[in-house]
Amino acid sequence: MELKQLSKTLMINHQEVTFYGNNNIPAMGIFTSALLRSLQQVKSKRIIDVGCGSGVIGIYALIQGCDFVLFNDIQKEALELTSCNLKSNQILDRFQLRQCPFSELDGMELATFDLLTFCAPQFPIKYFSQNPFPNDEQVFRDGGPDGWKILREFLDWYATLKPTPPPAILVFSSILGKSTIRDEIQKRDLRWKHHSSYEFPLRQSLVKAFEQSNALLLEERGIVITPDGKWCKSLHVIEVNTNQTL
Ligand SMILES: C[S@@+](CC[C@H](N)C(=O)[O-])C[C@H]1O[C@@H](n2cnc3c(N)ncnc32)[C@H](O)[C@@H]1O
Repeated sequence: MELKQLSKTLMINHQEVTFYGNNNIPAMGIFTSALLRSLQQVKSKRIIDVGCGSGVIGIYALIQGCDFVLFNDIQKEALELTSCNLKSNQILDRFQLRQCPFSELDGMELATFDLLTFCAPQFPIKYFSQNPFPNDEQVFRDGGPDGWKILREFLDWYATLKPTPPPAILVFSSILGKSTIRDEIQKRDLRWKHHSSYEFPLRQSLVKAFEQSNALLLEERGIVITPDGKWCKSLHVIEVNTNQTL
């Protein structure tokens, strides 16, 4: 497999760790960096990295001392990339790779884990007349017309898992809509806890889509314009749980 020249290096436990991406799957995106900051506070021992992409979240957890990670992705190429990244970081055991849609993961098996993570694809394509994805990143990013396609599928599946699944740490872009995020979680009777939010620049293509919007819509979409004219959105890291005790 041809690996992108552009790799990402993170400092994890005073160790330089490099992650590679390829043409379809970036080494790591801004959603991941938001989720990783939250993972620093989590001391889980068995993690399911759903939609693992390059494997960056699970590998980060393994280097931080997690006992076992189940890497899952719908794309064969993502598991191949994860496998390369595990080898290049000398991680030879304490993991399994599983290629399938998350909806095929077994509830009994999931219940043996204590955390699930997922940075779901959530790019809303309705704002674009032409394919907005650079390279072949469509499966990585495409969230359907309003950005919610995969997240709704995930929340539907997660909310009905039996036995009780582990808590899930998810990242939501504010452009999905503040009240919609809350409603989509609450209508499935999930408990939720806000971990953290981070501001990031809005892609130029999305700035165009929102330029004509009124202040109310920008507020609902968490879009702010900084005093020096930069358009920013927020990424919210949220923990959901089917358990009443969260
Ligand atoms: C935004 S990327 C996140 C990748 C990686 N976790 C990261 O943070 O860089 C979303 C990932 O979800 C995967 N994916 C999309 N639909 C999926 C599904 N139904 N089941 C499992 N993985 C899926 C994509 O292939 C992609 O690798």
